[in-house]
Amino acid sequence: MTYKGKFRVWRGDGEGGELQDYEVDVNEGEVVLDVIHRLQATQTPDLAVRWNCKAGKCGSCSAEINGKPKLMCMCRMNTFEEGETVTVTPMRTFPVIRDLVTDVSFNYTKAREIPSFTPPADLKPGEYRMQQVDVERSQEFRKCIECFLCQDTCHVIRDHEENKESFSGPRFLMRIAELDMHPLDAADRQHEAQDQHGLGFCNITKCCTEVCPEHIKITDNALIPMKERVADRKYDPIVWLGNKIRRRPS
Ligand code: SF4
Ligand code: SF4
Ligand code: FES
Repeated sequence: MTYKGKFRVWRGDGEGGELQDYEVDVNEGEVVLDVIHRLQATQTPDLAVRWNCKAGKCGSCSAEINGKPKLMCMCRMNTFEEGETVTVTPMRTFPVIRDLVTDVSFNYTKAREIPSFTPPADLKPGEYRMQQVDVERSQEFRKCIECFLCQDTCHVIRDHEENKESFSGPRFLMRIAELDMHPLDAADRQHEAQDQHGLGFCNITKCCTEVCPEHIKITDNALIPMKERVADRKYDPIVWLGNKIRRRPS
Protein backbone atom coordinates (compact mmCIF):
# COMPACT_ATOMS: atom_id res chain seq x y z
CA MET A 1 0.00 0.00 0.00
CA THR A 2 1.42 3.36 -1.09
CA TYR A 3 0.28 6.81 -0.06
CA LYS A 4 1.49 10.38 -0.62
CA GLY A 5 3.28 11.42 2.56
CA LYS A 6 3.62 15.06 3.55
CA PHE A 7 7.16 16.01 4.47
CA ARG A 8 8.64 19.29 5.67
CA VAL A 9 12.42 19.25 5.41
CA TRP A 10 14.91 21.89 6.47
CA ARG A 11 17.03 23.08 3.52
CA GLY A 12 19.94 25.43 3.85
CA ASP A 13 23.48 25.80 5.14
CA GLY A 14 25.47 27.56 7.85
CA GLU A 15 24.34 30.95 6.51
CA GLY A 16 20.62 30.19 6.88
CA GLY A 17 17.76 28.21 5.41
CA GLU A 18 14.09 27.33 5.69
CA LEU A 19 11.62 24.48 5.92
CA GLN A 20 10.34 23.28 2.55
CA ASP A 21 7.26 21.17 1.91
CA TYR A 22 7.27 18.05 -0.25
CA GLU A 23 4.90 15.22 -1.11
CA VAL A 24 6.65 11.88 -1.41
CA ASP A 25 5.43 8.30 -1.93
CA VAL A 26 5.50 6.20 1.22
CA ASN A 27 5.35 2.40 1.01
CA GLU A 28 4.36 -0.08 3.66
CA GLY A 29 7.16 -1.00 6.06
CA GLU A 30 9.32 2.04 5.32
CA VAL A 31 11.27 4.25 7.71
CA VAL A 32 11.86 8.01 7.48
CA LEU A 33 15.28 7.48 5.86
CA ASP A 34 13.66 5.51 2.99
CA VAL A 35 11.39 8.44 2.24
CA ILE A 36 14.23 10.96 2.49
CA HIS A 37 16.17 8.84 -0.01
CA ARG A 38 13.16 8.76 -2.35
CA LEU A 39 12.86 12.53 -2.05
CA GLN A 40 16.54 12.83 -2.95
CA ALA A 41 16.18 10.41 -5.89
CA THR A 42 13.05 11.95 -7.38
CA GLN A 43 12.83 15.64 -6.49
CA THR A 44 15.87 17.08 -4.68
CA PRO A 45 19.11 15.47 -5.96
CA ASP A 46 21.13 18.03 -4.00
CA LEU A 47 19.56 17.21 -0.62
CA ALA A 48 22.40 16.51 1.84
CA VAL A 49 21.82 13.63 4.23
CA ARG A 50 24.33 11.50 6.14
CA TRP A 51 23.79 7.76 6.57
CA ASN A 52 25.63 4.47 6.29
CA CYS A 53 24.12 1.28 7.69
CA LYS A 54 20.34 1.79 7.67
CA ALA A 55 20.31 -0.61 10.61
CA GLY A 56 20.65 1.66 13.65
CA LYS A 57 24.28 0.77 14.15
CA CYS A 58 26.53 3.40 12.53
CA GLY A 59 25.03 6.43 14.28
CA SER A 60 25.21 8.58 11.12
CA CYS A 61 21.57 9.40 10.33
CA SER A 62 20.78 11.39 13.50
CA ALA A 63 18.28 14.19 12.97
CA GLU A 64 15.18 15.66 14.58
CA ILE A 65 11.85 14.24 13.52
CA ASN A 66 8.87 16.36 14.56
CA GLY A 67 11.31 18.05 16.95
CA LYS A 68 12.53 14.85 18.61
CA PRO A 69 16.14 13.65 18.28
CA LYS A 70 16.02 10.29 16.45
CA LEU A 71 17.81 8.01 14.00
CA MET A 72 16.05 8.41 10.64
CA CYS A 73 16.66 4.75 9.82
CA MET A 74 14.94 3.54 12.97
CA CYS A 75 11.89 5.79 12.81
CA ARG A 76 9.07 3.82 11.23
CA MET A 77 6.57 5.63 9.00
CA ASN A 78 3.67 3.68 10.52
CA THR A 79 4.15 5.65 13.74
CA PHE A 80 2.60 8.66 11.92
CA GLU A 81 -0.91 9.16 10.57
CA GLU A 82 -1.11 9.14 6.76
CA GLY A 83 -2.21 12.78 6.58
CA GLU A 84 0.29 13.96 9.16
CA THR A 85 3.16 16.23 8.11
CA VAL A 86 6.51 14.76 9.13
CA THR A 87 9.07 17.47 9.82
CA VAL A 88 12.74 16.56 9.48
CA THR A 89 15.39 19.01 10.69
CA PRO A 90 19.12 18.74 11.43
CA MET A 91 20.39 18.27 14.99
CA ARG A 92 20.08 21.65 16.65
CA THR A 93 23.07 21.49 18.99
CA PHE A 94 25.65 21.32 16.21
CA PRO A 95 26.40 23.75 13.36
CA VAL A 96 24.71 22.95 10.07
CA ILE A 97 26.94 22.09 7.13
CA ARG A 98 24.09 21.63 4.68
CA ASP A 99 20.44 20.49 4.88
CA LEU A 100 20.31 17.55 7.34
CA VAL A 101 24.07 17.26 7.79
CA THR A 102 25.67 18.84 10.85
CA ASP A 103 29.27 19.34 11.92
CA VAL A 104 29.71 17.06 14.94
CA SER A 105 33.42 17.72 15.42
CA PHE A 106 32.68 19.16 18.91
CA ASN A 107 32.25 15.54 19.99
CA TYR A 108 35.56 14.38 18.55
CA THR A 109 37.35 17.27 20.24
CA LYS A 110 35.87 16.26 23.59
CA ALA A 111 36.70 12.59 23.00
CA ARG A 112 40.34 13.47 22.40
CA GLU A 113 40.50 15.34 25.71
CA ILE A 114 39.79 12.17 27.72
CA PRO A 115 42.95 10.16 28.45
CA SER A 116 42.52 6.51 27.50
CA PHE A 117 42.55 3.60 29.96
CA THR A 118 45.51 4.14 32.30
CA PRO A 119 46.66 0.97 34.08
CA PRO A 120 49.08 1.18 37.02
CA ALA A 121 52.63 1.70 35.74
CA ASP A 122 53.95 -1.53 37.30
CA LEU A 123 51.28 -3.74 35.71
CA LYS A 124 52.32 -5.37 32.45
CA PRO A 125 49.93 -6.43 29.66
CA GLY A 126 48.92 -10.01 30.38
CA GLU A 127 48.89 -9.38 34.12
CA TYR A 128 45.51 -7.64 34.07
CA ARG A 129 42.92 -9.50 36.15
CA MET A 130 39.31 -8.38 36.67
CA GLN A 131 36.21 -9.86 38.24
CA GLN A 132 33.44 -10.75 35.77
CA VAL A 133 31.10 -8.40 37.64
CA ASP A 134 33.42 -5.47 36.82
CA VAL A 135 33.57 -6.49 33.16
CA GLU A 136 29.78 -6.59 32.99
CA ARG A 137 29.32 -3.24 34.69
CA SER A 138 30.83 -1.27 31.82
CA GLN A 139 29.45 -3.49 29.06
CA GLU A 140 26.29 -1.39 28.78
CA PHE A 141 28.29 1.76 27.95
CA ARG A 142 30.16 -0.08 25.19
CA LYS A 143 26.92 -0.34 23.21
CA CYS A 144 27.20 3.37 22.33
CA ILE A 145 27.05 3.92 18.55
CA GLU A 146 28.14 7.58 18.81
CA CYS A 147 25.00 8.94 17.22
CA PHE A 148 25.29 12.01 19.50
CA LEU A 149 21.52 12.21 19.98
CA CYS A 150 22.13 12.44 23.74
CA GLN A 151 24.49 15.36 23.13
CA ASP A 152 21.89 16.97 20.86
CA THR A 153 19.13 16.74 23.44
CA CYS A 154 21.06 17.88 26.52
CA HIS A 155 19.77 21.31 27.49
CA VAL A 156 23.13 22.36 28.93
CA ILE A 157 24.54 22.79 25.42
CA ARG A 158 21.45 22.62 23.17
CA ASP A 159 20.83 26.35 23.21
CA HIS A 160 23.97 27.37 25.05
CA GLU A 161 26.97 27.56 22.80
CA GLU A 162 28.79 29.28 25.67
CA ASN A 163 28.67 26.08 27.78
CA LYS A 164 30.36 23.91 25.18
CA GLU A 165 33.85 24.77 26.30
CA SER A 166 33.31 23.63 29.88
CA PHE A 167 30.72 20.85 29.41
CA SER A 168 31.47 17.74 27.38
CA GLY A 169 27.97 16.27 27.39
CA PRO A 170 26.45 12.97 28.49
CA ARG A 171 28.24 10.75 25.98
CA PHE A 172 31.67 11.77 27.26
CA LEU A 173 30.79 12.00 30.94
CA MET A 174 29.55 8.43 30.51
CA ARG A 175 32.92 7.48 29.00
CA ILE A 176 34.74 8.96 32.01
CA ALA A 177 32.36 7.14 34.38
CA GLU A 178 33.07 3.90 32.53
CA LEU A 179 36.82 4.39 32.99
CA ASP A 180 36.32 5.31 36.65
CA MET A 181 34.47 2.02 37.20
CA HIS A 182 37.39 0.08 35.76
CA PRO A 183 39.18 -1.50 38.73
CA LEU A 184 42.60 -1.18 37.04
CA ASP A 185 42.31 2.42 35.86
CA ALA A 186 44.72 4.57 37.82
CA ALA A 187 43.81 8.04 36.48
CA ASP A 188 41.92 10.59 38.58
CA ARG A 189 38.63 10.37 36.67
CA GLN A 190 36.53 12.10 39.34
CA HIS A 191 38.61 15.25 39.21
CA GLU A 192 38.60 15.01 35.40
CA ALA A 193 34.78 14.69 35.21
CA GLN A 194 34.03 17.49 37.64
CA ASP A 195 36.70 20.07 36.84
CA GLN A 196 37.53 19.52 33.17
CA HIS A 197 34.33 18.11 31.67
CA GLY A 198 31.61 19.91 33.64
CA LEU A 199 29.82 17.09 35.49
CA GLY A 200 28.36 19.71 37.85
CA PHE A 201 26.33 21.24 34.97
CA CYS A 202 24.26 18.04 34.70
CA ASN A 203 21.08 18.25 36.74
CA ILE A 204 20.07 14.63 36.02
CA THR A 205 16.97 15.42 33.96
CA LYS A 206 17.46 12.07 32.12
CA CYS A 207 16.58 13.60 28.71
CA CYS A 208 19.76 12.04 27.31
CA THR A 209 18.66 8.59 28.49
CA GLU A 210 15.24 9.02 26.87
CA VAL A 211 16.63 9.54 23.36
CA CYS A 212 19.41 6.92 23.39
CA PRO A 213 18.65 4.41 20.60
CA GLU A 214 20.76 1.79 22.42
CA HIS A 215 18.65 2.23 25.58
CA ILE A 216 21.74 2.91 27.66
CA LYS A 217 20.76 4.19 31.10
CA ILE A 218 23.19 7.09 30.80
CA THR A 219 21.91 9.06 33.78
CA ASP A 220 21.08 6.26 36.23
CA ASN A 221 24.04 4.00 35.55
CA ALA A 222 26.82 6.43 34.62
CA LEU A 223 26.17 10.08 35.56
CA ILE A 224 24.46 9.65 38.94
CA PRO A 225 27.01 7.07 40.25
CA MET A 226 29.79 9.39 39.05
CA LYS A 227 28.23 12.35 40.88
CA GLU A 228 27.93 10.22 44.00
CA ARG A 229 31.59 9.24 43.89
CA VAL A 230 32.62 12.88 43.38
CA ALA A 231 30.43 13.93 46.35
CA ASP A 232 31.79 11.10 48.53
CA ARG A 233 35.31 12.24 47.88
CA LYS A 234 34.52 15.89 48.52
CA TYR A 235 32.32 15.58 51.59
CA ASP A 236 33.26 12.31 53.30
CA PRO A 237 35.11 13.51 56.46
CA ILE A 238 37.47 10.49 56.49
CA VAL A 239 38.43 10.96 52.83
CA TRP A 240 38.80 14.71 53.46
CA LEU A 241 41.11 14.09 56.44
CA GLY A 242 43.12 11.51 54.47
CA ASN A 243 43.64 14.00 51.62
CA LYS A 244 44.70 16.73 54.07
CA ILE A 245 47.26 14.46 55.74
CA ARG A 246 48.59 13.27 52.38
CA ARG A 247 48.96 16.84 51.14
CA ARG A 248 50.87 18.01 54.27
CA PRO A 249 54.52 18.69 53.53
CA SER A 250 56.85 16.30 55.37
S1 SF4 B 1 20.77 14.09 32.59
FE1 SF4 B 1 22.49 15.54 32.57
S2 SF4 B 1 23.63 15.05 30.73
FE2 SF4 B 1 21.59 14.06 30.53
S3 SF4 B 1 20.35 15.57 29.40
FE3 SF4 B 1 20.03 15.96 31.59
S4 SF4 B 1 21.54 17.54 32.13
FE4 SF4 B 1 22.19 16.65 30.15
S1 SF4 C 1 25.01 7.18 24.57
FE1 SF4 C 1 23.27 6.58 23.27
S2 SF4 C 1 22.46 8.54 22.49
FE2 SF4 C 1 24.52 8.94 23.29
S3 SF4 C 1 25.89 8.79 21.53
FE3 SF4 C 1 25.83 6.76 22.54
S4 SF4 C 1 24.22 5.63 21.51
FE4 SF4 C 1 23.93 7.77 20.94
S1 FES D 1 22.08 4.83 8.89
FE1 FES D 1 23.33 3.92 10.44
S2 FES D 1 22.27 4.41 12.28
FE2 FES D 1 20.96 5.12 10.72
